[in-house]
Amino acid sequence: MTGPTASPPVRPWWHDAVVYQVYVRSFADSDGDGIGDLDGVRSRLDHLAGLGVEAIWLNPCYPSPQRDHGYDVSDYCSIEPAYGDLDTFDRLVADAAARGIKVLMDVVPNHCSSEHPWFRAALEAGPGSPERARFFFRDGVGDEPPNNWRAVFGGSAWTRVDDGQWYLGTFSPYQPDWDHTHPDVADHFEQVLRFWFDRGVEGFRVDAVPPVGKAPELPDQPPGPPGATDEELALSNPFATFRPEGHAVWRRWRRLTDRYVDEHPGREIVLVAEAYTPRRPDLLLEYARPDEFHQAFAFDVLLSPWRASELRQAVGDQLMLLHDEGVVPTWTLSNHDVQRTVTRLGRANATDPASYTGSALRYVDAPVDLELGRRRALAAIAFVLALPGSVYLYQGEELGLPDWLDLPDVARQDPVFLRTAGAFRGRDGCRVPLPWTADPAGAHGFSPTTGAAPWLPQPDDWGRWAADAQAADPDSTLATYRALLAARRRFATGNDARLVDLHPDLVAVRRGRLVAVLNPTPEPVRVGDLLTVGDVVVATERSAARGTIAPDATIWVAAVDATSPNGGGPARVASPR
Ligand code: GLC
Repeated sequence: MTGPTASPPVRPWWHDAVVYQVYVRSFADSDGDGIGDLDGVRSRLDHLAGLGVEAIWLNPCYPSPQRDHGYDVSDYCSIEPAYGDLDTFDRLVADAAARGIKVLMDVVPNHCSSEHPWFRAALEAGPGSPERARFFFRDGVGDEPPNNWRAVFGGSAWTRVDDGQWYLGTFSPYQPDWDHTHPDVADHFEQVLRFWFDRGVEGFRVDAVPPVGKAPELPDQPPGPPGATDEELALSNPFATFRPEGHAVWRRWRRLTDRYVDEHPGREIVLVAEAYTPRRPDLLLEYARPDEFHQAFAFDVLLSPWRASELRQAVGDQLMLLHDEGVVPTWTLSNHDVQRTVTRLGRANATDPASYTGSALRYVDAPVDLELGRRRALAAIAFVLALPGSVYLYQGEELGLPDWLDLPDVARQDPVFLRTAGAFRGRDGCRVPLPWTADPAGAHGFSPTTGAAPWLPQPDDWGRWAADAQAADPDSTLATYRALLAARRRFATGNDARLVDLHPDLVAVRRGRLVAVLNPTPEPVRVGDLLTVGDVVVATERSAARGTIAPDATIWVAAVDATSPNGGGPARVASPR
């Protein structure tokens, strides 16, 4: 008797997917109100298909007063009117699917908007009411708040209401925290997930995971180190972050998701945790596990100084989790909360561990060399694109956009800036509307030419990075990204990846027939006999001297099998100006 031929297990789509983050507000404005919208996203899907991404992740596009640009949700089952409506959303999902692109959403479980109807009802219902039990309302101590907890965006985490009670907002007063132990809250979020799964959403990036779940007695937190900021205190509060009460929520969500997938053959839904766990792979493992999240962002490369030792550790930790625990890495170098890669890596102090405070939001300022940043950013993305796992890109990084550090203060809108009276610059600089056209009309093609000014202004030289000019230039950053994504599909396959010891100044990984090498130093470095074992199929900079890798560059060397359909010679070498 002959059984069926054993075929290799099919990996879910998200294992090796390149996912493109769309910050809707700043992506493309279709109706001329100066605010990006879902029809704008639809109008630019060919750009994303041309780039070669498998999915997009939409930042929150639910109705919201926009005090934290969508991370203050007032209705979890609808669309922000400035962005469109549910029909627009359905059209977007369909148009994306027609191009083979899946849609992930962003769900915000820790808090809602202070305008959410349930919170409004809680305010009206008064102390002791069932409405208040869905949130954390407490009596104060005399005129003081119930405890000493601080808010991420500054100030006390407690806000007093007219009747004297206080409510908890881990981020800000306009983002009251949900109490997930309340059955209404638990049921509500289960309905929310199902609502979007039914509309074809193939997964969620889950926002601010560590603060979900609080120690029931809400005790005072221990004092922090001298000079600790409110944000540092809030995110290290042992009674309000990384809590077992939170894990109970994720287990429920995972059960629901697995059940949904079982009921809907063909669906492969992914839950990705946003949890900053600096250099704590053990902590990441508490979230990325078979009964909680499928994946959790690997932020350590983003948080590393530009030095081989730290970068090697950041990469090695993830590969270790993959091999030992089967956790699929989720690489990311950039997002809407951090300095854009070109700026971050172009800073004169980018190699200095002390230039990072361990938080994603804070950087020690230093002069920025954009050309250096461009080279390093390309080297960094080329390196992670060689690795197993999914890779998340942030809109505009494929254009090589820098942060706008000099954005005038009057234009800034980030609560990080507003709530610290400008002590922290905040995140507006990485959220400037995209330049689609070199022609400045309509904010460089962000809006129709007759449109209103964009919600955040663009710097005068924004046209330098315009997508249309780059699309026509084979040496542009955009063309290089396309080539890198194509090279990844062709050469970066298989889960068997390990760090290799080539040279102490280099970071090198072998993945099947491919060896990817990053040189984060300002000098060319010899790569031994590596170049004799295969072809250089990617080089972000050409090397001037034989047998070496250029400064601040990545190369991929592939042992090409001439008999395979894909073999027979190098792919296009990515080598921009
Ligand atoms: C996450 C989001 C950030 C938001 C915060 C509060 O960190 O990425 O943009 O401000 O959560 O929801």
